[in-house]
Amino acid sequence: MLKIGVVLGSVREGRNGLAVANWTVEKAKAFSNAEDVQFELVDLADYDLPFLGKTPTAEQGAAIGAWSEKIASFDGYIFITAEYNHGVAGAFKNALDFLKPEFKDKAVAFVGYGGLGAARSIENLRVVLAEQGLASTQRTVNFSLITDFENMSTFKPAAFHEGELQELLGQLIGWSGALKTLR
Ligand SMILES: Cc1cc2nc3c(=O)[nH]c(=O)nc-3n(C[C@H](O)[C@H](O)[C@H](O)COP(=O)(O)O)c2cc1C
Repeated sequence: MLKIGVVLGSVREGRNGLAVANWTVEKAKAFSNAEDVQFELVDLADYDLPFLGKTPTAEQGAAIGAWSEKIASFDGYIFITAEYNHGVAGAFKNALDFLKPEFKDKAVAFVGYGGLGAARSIENLRVVLAEQGLASTQRTVNFSLITDFENMSTFKPAAFHEGELQELLGQLIGWSGALKTLR
């Protein structure tokens, strides 16, 4: 049994990312055998992390521990990412900087949304996450804020993205299983 964390990296109030994350979990479950692989949504907004380097309050210390423990519990990840100024959202990068051993010898895939499907943010993340020990899959799913959302806010994904997600899942599950034997 593989456990895949679907990690939502935007904490913005009114974020578009929640609909994308829910779609990803729902479709991933539909396209997979539940006896082989489980998917769980991990919402960064549930973890009140301080900026790395600031002395945490007791509550923030507990949040750092809970974030680490949750992330460590998975064999692989699907990161749901927006694009902010051609890069990853600041809160997401800050949260990732708390982690490293939790990611070692695991796999990650990306579902992005933005003007260009968060393509630049995803390429940015690949470089960051390689340093943290994650192998990133070739296939991504890239939603356009123009054509996959109404008024850039109501998620209406084109059907062809389901095929992209299936290909992404094949790569991610394959690598997650292979890397589990390495760990
Ligand atoms: C400060 C800021 C910078 C942004 N920069 C980009 C960008 O470089 N490329 C892009 O495609 N979208 C950009 N956007 C649009 C966001 O990708 C879009 O608002 C998206 O819905 C954000 O994700 P969220 O709603 O889940 O927080 C930017 C938005 C903000 C607020």
